[in-house]
Amino acid sequence: MRILVIADIHSNWHALDAIREPFDACLFVGDIVDYGTDPVRCITWAKNHVTAGIRGNHDHAVAQRITARGGRGFRRLAAATRPLQWDLIDQKRLKYLARLPVTQHVEVGGLSFFLVHATPRDPMDEYLTDDIDAWNDRLQTVKADFVCVGHTHIPCHLQLNDKQLLNPGSVGQPRDGDPRAAYAIIEDGKVHLRRVEYDIDATLEQMRSTGIDEWVVRLNEQVFRSGGNISRDEMESIR
Ligand SMILES: [Fe+2]
Repeated sequence: MRILVIADIHSNWHALDAIREPFDACLFVGDIVDYGTDPVRCITWAKNHVTAGIRGNHDHAVAQRITARGGRGFRRLAAATRPLQWDLIDQKRLKYLARLPVTQHVEVGGLSFFLVHATPRDPMDEYLTDDIDAWNDRLQTVKADFVCVGHTHIPCHLQLNDKQLLNPGSVGQPRDGDPRAAYAIIEDGKVHLRRVEYDIDATLEQMRSTGIDEWVVRLNEQVFRSGGNISRDEMESIR
């Protein structure tokens, strides 16, 4: 049994399409949309391939038609791309986002999983990376072999007191300094964090084809090529 675990696709179809691993089941832990400009193909893939999935903060905001307030850094990028998500995503696909549960318990291949985008304390927003004590605290009452999360865009696999914590990293917008698409495979109960190169130029070309502002494409390019290793000041300088 091979289980593909993915998160944070962020409307980057070419990154998602580069993952060619065979799998028996796919678990998705949130954020199909925003930042990128190709949400339709990403949602279609999820509808066709995801065995069990939950919503991320960006899926929630797009599905509930919440206007992005903007600000600095990634907030500015999300605000710049959100109206385009609404232009492109049809009612059927919007409904798919709206119906994704906030959390989910699921059994796959004899293993039990708890899926949540951020943490059980704040399922869509709390930012927690590799702090073992904090994760043990947050997951005390959760019964599962594996807890799968996303949100940070940084891959992480931790052995906790009585379960394993897995963040597969981000498919479409890695922020750990490695530009390659990130995902995880669980095979025979063992976790493998994986990376695959994708055609960043094709993603940028698709962005330009939507007619979105050129600064959005250039900012995305800097984020992609640096693997998210970009300061807020550098982000602000791209206009
Ligand atoms: Fe995300």
